[in-house]
Amino acid sequence: MDFRLTEEQELLRRSVREFAETEIRPHVMEWDETQHFPTELVPKLAGLGLMGIQYPEEYGGAGMSAVDYCICIEELARVDPGVSLSVAAHNGLCSAHIYMFGTEAQKQRYVGPLARGEMIGAWGLTEPTAGSDAAGTRTVAVRDGDSWVLNGAKTFTTHGRVGHVMVAMAVTDRSKGNKGISAFIIERGTPGMSPGKKENKLGMRASDTSEVVFENCRIPAENLLGEEGQGFVGAMQVLDAGRIGIAALAVGLAQGAWEAARHYAFERKQFGRPIGSFEAIQWKLVDNATRIEASRLLTYRAAYMKDQGQRTTLQAAMAKLYSSEIAVRAAEDCVQIHGGYGFVKDYPAEKYFRDVKLTTIGEGTSEIQRLVIARQILGR
Ligand code: CAA
Repeated sequence: MDFRLTEEQELLRRSVREFAETEIRPHVMEWDETQHFPTELVPKLAGLGLMGIQYPEEYGGAGMSAVDYCICIEELARVDPGVSLSVAAHNGLCSAHIYMFGTEAQKQRYVGPLARGEMIGAWGLTEPTAGSDAAGTRTVAVRDGDSWVLNGAKTFTTHGRVGHVMVAMAVTDRSKGNKGISAFIIERGTPGMSPGKKENKLGMRASDTSEVVFENCRIPAENLLGEEGQGFVGAMQVLDAGRIGIAALAVGLAQGAWEAARHYAFERKQFGRPIGSFEAIQWKLVDNATRIEASRLLTYRAAYMKDQGQRTTLQAAMAKLYSSEIAVRAAEDCVQIHGGYGFVKDYPAEKYFRDVKLTTIGEGTSEIQRLVIARQILGR
């Protein structure tokens, strides 16, 4: 067992960190306040391989490992969790679903452009009445000759407005329960597909989130992704990997909040000395540093297992559950250490505090992670 990253991975961390510091840090608050999705950043992200991190070079990807992927997501989240979320959803949901279950023709048509940042990907599982109970999907797809016709709506879709291509789950045979749900690829501009309300969010505001509505949306029969009836199980497998990404995002966010708190603690003086010299502050920093390190290890273990081709349902759920919950504490302590300055927008603390809450909700709430873990370890 060797816990060290390779030299290449250390170099990768340095280059993504430098990129985030120079290309993202100066715009973080502006993008947050205006809820601006930074389309202008996409070619630069693609230039570093961040739009196709884990996809083979023959599909235009950077051919990196799942551990490398975690490093990239972590370093983006350390500076801007919203940008990191977009990169994670693009790579880990839409592109992943097509790469994992697509035909060769579908991979050629979509994975390359997605990996090169020529297309932005969206993924639709959640619906207004089907969130944690994802098998409660109401959107339907009916076969009509050489087409499928979709009707329904997806909600909380990352890139619902800015995405060029979307993978969406829809019921193809209601009598078969979760085995009657299939996945489809829908291109933006297809008649009958339209973006709905853009969400006005608490945090992660640079990442586009909106409804997507399907009204008699007709797509070619070959846009069925994977086997008919296997869309739900496929989505669960996509989420097994996706949740490792959200865990990495939480680790990076917690790291960013911790660094901001440490910096402030040794700059701010009260009672004639830096507040970081008081045990009350030191213990917060120490406890958070310890928890962040533990969450990083859980996350890298899940990623390592993915790289070995092992199933990671349990490890991904554990990594996401723990990392997101400790990140909430790290962000809260960051605000607390900043005191009144943690409550205003001149310091980064309040944004980490707003952004972090998504990590205990997106790609499955903490309650769902506990349910997944219980089913894995308690045999229920
Ligand atoms: N890998 C392989 N197969 C899996 C699996 C996995 N990880 N998880 C479940 N399955 C299989 C089961 O074995 C089962 O197969 P059988 O019927 O043959 O036994 C089948 O799938 C159904 O599984 P369950 O009985 O466990 O299904 P369930 O209805 O009880 O739901 C759940 C399970 C874990 C609660 C699931 O619904 C879930 O994960 N919910 C949360 C959804 C979620 O994370 N949503 C966020 C999406 S993010 C988004 O949409 C927006 C965005 O842009 C980010």
